[in-house]
Amino acid sequence: MTIQWFPGHMTRAKRQIQAKLKLIDIAIELLDARVPLSSRNPMVDEILSGKPRLIVLNKSDLADPKVTEQWIEYFKYEGHETVAVDSSTGTRIGDIPMKAKEILKEKIDRQLAKGMNPRAMRGLIVGIPNVGKSTLINRLAGRNIAITGDKPGVTKGQQWIKTTYEMDLLDTPGILWPKFEDELVGYRLAMTGAIREQILNVEDIAFFAVRELVERYWPAMQERFKLDKAPSDPTDSDEVVRVMEDIGRRRGCLVSGGQVDLEKTSGIILRELRSGNLGRITLEAPFPAAAGRPGE
Ligand code: G4P
Repeated sequence: MTIQWFPGHMTRAKRQIQAKLKLIDIAIELLDARVPLSSRNPMVDEILSGKPRLIVLNKSDLADPKVTEQWIEYFKYEGHETVAVDSSTGTRIGDIPMKAKEILKEKIDRQLAKGMNPRAMRGLIVGIPNVGKSTLINRLAGRNIAITGDKPGVTKGQQWIKTTYEMDLLDTPGILWPKFEDELVGYRLAMTGAIREQILNVEDIAFFAVRELVERYWPAMQERFKLDKAPSDPTDSDEVVRVMEDIGRRRGCLVSGGQVDLEKTSGIILRELRSGNLGRITLEAPFPAAAGRPGE
């Protein structure tokens, strides 16, 4: 889904989500486990303020499990319960209603004390485009539902989707925008495939990816692309380009004259990274010792 975000759209998105918050018990904030910071909306605390919230690290099948555990700890420290799931296969999605029930325990207990029969919990999934909102809703529902975002100007009644758990979901997830004024965020989202390549140049994205991977996941790079030795200085652009050229040669991406076709090579690098062929990779770590620099 391609969305052009302008200030007016952001204001509308914020209002639309806040209107939905009145209908629900809990907000489910979906993040990409490979880039939990870059896939986070910069205003999410303000937008969801006052609502019980569960953070869900999606696409954890593609992320470094060690760092995912650290993110769970980190968000807990921030005061948010967090679970890691893979919506494409449904792995651990049952943790979502289970944790939600824990978060809402007091409310549910109060209803029980009043002799009320608690109804199914009501949730809203929010997140940036391509983080996996529709995939998760379909998995929780146990069937395929055509999920659309809110269309500006179209007013329609909210529908509840019954899931196979004690939880109903609003049929239109809340679509949030990333912090795209930050160039680093843009590149990281492009590396994961959340931002389409038409917006940023494919060679630039691959250059950025190789630079990060050389620094953080050199053994995986070396093994996958059969590379010789690590560049002595991964911050040196010439050395990064040399790694890209080595990969191109290994994969036979040559043009006449024996030059490496960097565009084709870039396509291969990004495809392998996104499909998990390079292994489970996380680009952002909460603690310095994990996947690299803290908080980046
Ligand atoms: P959205 O509603 O938030 O915009 O995202 P959507 O569900 O459309 O998911 C975006 C892409 O991410 C889809 O791939 C989807 O299959 C993939 N995806 C969602 N959750 C997971 C997950 O936990 N693990 C992995 N590995 N992938 C996930 P796509 O290539 O755009 O579409 P498709 O080829 O799967 O149809």
